[in-house]
Amino acid sequence: MGASTDGAESLHPDIEQVLIGSAHIQARLREIAAEIDRDYAGRQVLLVGVLKGAFILMADLARSLTVPVEFDFMAVSSYGSATQTSGVVRILKDLDLDIAGRDVLVVEDIVDSGLTLNYLLRNLRARGPSSLEVMALLSKPDQTRVDLPIRYQGFAVPNVFVVGYGLDYAERYRNLSFVGTLRPEVYAQT
Ligand code: PRP
Repeated sequence: MGASTDGAESLHPDIEQVLIGSAHIQARLREIAAEIDRDYAGRQVLLVGVLKGAFILMADLARSLTVPVEFDFMAVSSYGSATQTSGVVRILKDLDLDIAGRDVLVVEDIVDSGLTLNYLLRNLRARGPSSLEVMALLSKPDQTRVDLPIRYQGFAVPNVFVVGYGLDYAERYRNLSFVGTLRPEVYAQT
């Protein structure tokens, strides 16, 4: 495994630039997992992954944790164009579990405008968890329109459209092990 510009990673034909390499992501996740282990020592964490983007992050983060964890998922959809959110959020799949009295940690791949997470946190808080925190792999500080309490943050990225490590463009590229930008020609084809 190489650094953020690992040669094998940049070979993907649709990728213009690797912003955060696979090894870098995994190292940061191990650091965050150690923090979570410390913060939740003696407690049981309920990880709530926000589909679809968080599925890869959730799997990797969880495998670095040693505190007891349970899993649940929500699927939400923001109305808007392919690359921009509108702030109106629709719940496509709700949680299976009752989170009242639970220590809930929401796992998000990216906080862009912050509107999706803002909506989700209000919704989940109303269900009476004993604690509610957020882990977000990526944030776009220049884009964020609401102030959000993100307890665990991976990386800040510039205001460019990114794919990989769960993030898609037209449902593709989620399975890339790194975060990167697409070549402009890829958008032109769709
Ligand atoms: C992405 C991401 C967040 C949201 C962030 O999801 O996973 O949920 O957008 O944007 P915001 O901060 O501007 O609200 P997306 O709607 O692309 O769905 P997906 O995870 O299924 O790809």
